[in-house]
Amino acid sequence: MRAYVLEDFGVEPRMAHVPLPDIGDEDVLVRVLASSVNPHESHVISGAARTYMEYRFPVTLGSDVSGIVEEVGRSVTRFMPGDKVFGALRGRVAHRGTFADYAALPADCLVLQPSGLDNIDAGTLGLASLTAVACVEALGASAGHTVLIVGASGGVGSVAIQLLASVGAKVIATARGREGAKYVRSLGAVETVERADDVASVVRLAHPDGIDGVLDLVLSDSQRLTRLASNVLSIGGSVVSTLRAADPEALTGARTTNVVATANPVALQHIADLVGAGCLRPSVSKVFDFEEITEAISAQQSGVLGKVAVRIAPRGEE
Ligand SMILES: NC(=O)c1ccc[n+]([C@@H]2O[C@H](COP(=O)([O-])OP(=O)(O)OC[C@H]3O[C@@H](n4cnc5c(N)ncnc54)[C@H](OP(=O)(O)O)[C@@H]3O)[C@@H](O)[C@H]2O)c1
Repeated sequence: MRAYVLEDFGVEPRMAHVPLPDIGDEDVLVRVLASSVNPHESHVISGAARTYMEYRFPVTLGSDVSGIVEEVGRSVTRFMPGDKVFGALRGRVAHRGTFADYAALPADCLVLQPSGLDNIDAGTLGLASLTAVACVEALGASAGHTVLIVGASGGVGSVAIQLLASVGAKVIATARGREGAKYVRSLGAVETVERADDVASVVRLAHPDGIDGVLDLVLSDSQRLTRLASNVLSIGGSVVSTLRAADPEALTGARTTNVVATANPVALQHIADLVGAGCLRPSVSKVFDFEEITEAISAQQSGVLGKVAVRIAPRGEE
């Protein structure tokens, strides 16, 4: 089968022909129809993921998946061959991946695809949506709360805006330019801040009594996040980071969470239900064919609104 693999540190990933992956008792073999690019893939390629993952070369890249169940392990009871599924591969070992014709995933990383959902769209939901769901839960926001999202126009932000808006929270979203501002408003943000501006000052001016939450998807520097959050939050507010930058010792008086997204059937079913109920729509801005995977990764790195999707199955079969 075709797979997009990284064979060692310091070398460019390449398309290769590799054997089908083996499946264990708890695994599912999926014929992959579509996937999407997350910043995680760039971290694996650059070797930055070495700090939190063990590499077993060759590493097949890719986390997100939509596809059709081909085979199930002996202990798997939730799926059968032919089921259409979506999800995301998570774990501490970089080896198996979804940028391939077939992918082996633990059954807990998958859920049945809601009917009517496009396969390409489904392939973009996994990691970004799991992360956004965990972030929104950690924020604890409800109707009337005001939340600032920094980095709102990307994969995680696009889902988080919609989830927060659906519970009646007011979202202030950072965005780049008029196109970015229009995009985040289309998802439910009620205020926007140009990302190049002094975000803390703009928010403070508009909300002198402070806001209820900050979801930061950009800053890896704890001190910068502490400064931003201290400037805009009211007492007892929440700070959530996907980059391990929320420092509970510095942010006294705030609730802090550093989210690490995990794949589990409950969260994935929640995402499927939100899509089914019309509360969450996937936001795909570009679709690349599998042969263009290198370009897809570059597009994600240079910044797009929402998600970069990858059509893995040949056109017409997806
Ligand atoms: N902890 C976890 O489990 C976990 C899981 C998933 C993701 N993550 C991390 O969470 C972050 C967001 O993920 P994602 O999938 O949403 O990434 P993404 O799709 O690349 O989106 C990142 C967003 O941040 C914006 N941005 C970049 N620099 C900015 C700045 N200085 N000020 C304001 N906005 C800025 C980008 O805007 P432009 O497009 O205009 O540049 C883009 O909208 C990434 O760092 C990722 O590695 C962590």
